[in-house]
Amino acid sequence: MKTYLVTGGCGFIGSNFIHHLFNTYGDSIRVINVDKLTYAGNPENLQDIEDRPNYTFVKADICDKEAIRKVFRENTVDYVVHFAAESHVDRSILEPELFVKTNVLGTANMLNCAKEAWSLPDGPDPLGNYREGVKFLHVSTDEVYGSLPEDPNAYFYETTPYAPHSPYSASKASSDFLVKAYMDTYHFPANITNCSNNYGPYQFPEKLIPLMINNALNGRKLPVYGDGKNVRDWLYVEDHCRAIDLVLHKAKLFETYNIGGHNEKQNIEIVRTIIEVLREELPVTDPRRAQITEDLITYVEDRKGHDRRYAISPDKIGRDLGWKPETMFKDGIRKTITWYFDHQEWMEHITNGNYMKYYETMYAKRLAKSSK
Ligand code: NAD
Ligand code: DAU
Repeated sequence: MKTYLVTGGCGFIGSNFIHHLFNTYGDSIRVINVDKLTYAGNPENLQDIEDRPNYTFVKADICDKEAIRKVFRENTVDYVVHFAAESHVDRSILEPELFVKTNVLGTANMLNCAKEAWSLPDGPDPLGNYREGVKFLHVSTDEVYGSLPEDPNAYFYETTPYAPHSPYSASKASSDFLVKAYMDTYHFPANITNCSNNYGPYQFPEKLIPLMINNALNGRKLPVYGDGKNVRDWLYVEDHCRAIDLVLHKAKLFETYNIGGHNEKQNIEIVRTIIEVLREELPVTDPRRAQITEDLITYVEDRKGHDRRYAISPDKIGRDLGWKPETMFKDGIRKTITWYFDHQEWMEHITNGNYMKYYETMYAKRLAKSSK
């Protein structure tokens, strides 16, 4: 029975990944979820699996050496799938040091603890010798590559030089370099994945898609940064989870894979699609339906250092591992909107408390300065 140590499993992608693991492998695996439960970590995302005998939740900070060592000491961990991070670009602009602490120092601690636990005492290889079959998968982002020109033939490849612009992407780039350094220096058994923008269930409503859905359903304005023409490459979260599973089980050690679905969209297109689908899905008798129109769209002050365009080339993962996305955007976005619509209680639980304080800090000035 293999044991997966998942960090950040109560967040958006981590919780989708744990669902993916149990849906795929059922009772033949064990999962240990280490999460600090920051504002972004929500145990409700895993309510349906929390009583499984092969699931354990550990509330701990990835920066805490003793807590992480204890997890490795008390369990024979085969795989680490490392999601835990501060993940929101706008927050990184307000509070960069927290991103360095969690994303850089936290990753360093995870690497050290895994290396210590997996090292064989008398391994013949002076560069490092590890227990058979173990692997550390570092989940990273396409934002480490910086911004692409508007040329539709320009893509991020695994060989594209790193050029991060935000404190978030700089901290993720640093964490990638640490993993690369561990692979080169200690032959540490790892892979890195760099994925484009995910969307789907359980995403915290600070990110574009759930924020716009939640605002529209509550009759709030839809704040579009700058001219709304920045491009992101959207991937349904389950496709990302399948890719991680493949890299974990099939990829050669030390390889890096870009993950993305060739699904580039301008932000304004996304917002218009959300309005259109919400109007189609809401019953005609629902009074909110009449209010959800393009009049809600409000262009606001741009994000500082806003990357213009991201677009992933997924050629390598397609060629080596046979991965390709299965969810078309038009189906994925409808599934996502319907999910948020059907889980309004989930949304209410995470948006009471500190969420409106965050929203005010981030948007009040922007909205006041906008023309509408
Ligand atoms: P998220 O913000 O939804 O979740 C992050 C999780 O990590 C939360 O559960 C939080 O409680 C936990 N966490 C934060 N700090 C911690 C700490 N110090 N110790 C333990 N747990 C901590 O993030 P997400 O969108 O699910 O992203 C997960 C990972 O995937 C991140 O590493 C991110 O950089 C990467 N990624 C995200 C996307 C995307 O579109 N969301 C795309 C590519 C890569
Ligand atoms: O590319 C992968 C990255 O995607 C991940 O590494 C990050 O963790 C994840 O947060 C995401 O980063 P982005 O900055 O691209 O995502 P976000 O949802 O914050 O914004 C998407 C685009 O929408 C971006 O161009 C900014 C814009 N935007 C965002 C918000 C929240 C708006 O116009 N208005 C908004 O209110």
